[in-house]
Amino acid sequence: MSVFASNAGLTHKLPQYNNNCPLEARYHLNAVLILKKHFAASPEAFHIVLEHSRMVAAKALAIASAIPDPSLDLRLLEEAALLHDIGVSRIHAPRIGCHGDHPYICHGVLGREILETEGLPVHAMVCERHIGVGLGVKDIVQQRLPLPKRDMVPVTLAERIICFADLFYSKRPGSLDREKSPDDIRTAMLRHGSHKVAIFERWVQEFSR
Ligand SMILES: [Fe+2]
Repeated sequence: MSVFASNAGLTHKLPQYNNNCPLEARYHLNAVLILKKHFAASPEAFHIVLEHSRMVAAKALAIASAIPDPSLDLRLLEEAALLHDIGVSRIHAPRIGCHGDHPYICHGVLGREILETEGLPVHAMVCERHIGVGLGVKDIVQQRLPLPKRDMVPVTLAERIICFADLFYSKRPGSLDREKSPDDIRTAMLRHGSHKVAIFERWVQEFSR
């Protein structure tokens, strides 16, 4: 069933990994291959999204490494960060070589749909819950967004870290490795309301250790 029609499936059961192969072989390679498969028709976008996602993954890992929480699965965090924008493969954004049918705002739910099909339900929720600082039902209704009416806000620590890390990088060609300052983020986010900036400030406090 399409995630556009469903409110179900909010599972957090962790996927099983094969621990017998080298880390890079079992993880980076697979995440990049999954990304590459879904961007097969958009090689330009693949390179942009991969580079962007690598930056996000590096920042997410740096944040996580300072958090003494044994429940935080760093491998899952890195995989999910690499895959968080996979839904971009189905949007309409000629600027970065994407010629799908959907508006940009849908890339989170599209990513969830793709990764659930790939058998990665936990990674899938990172996709759905990473837009801005998260989208609530109220945002979706008030802004008449073309999205299912359900809360799409980060719930787990890993989801929160990736959502936060993503704010620091754009997918603008030529600026992929430029890290934005917190002030850059605050200024841009203010257009969406002070309540969004307040969430960002809470995360700055939480992740600045
Ligand atoms: Fe992103």
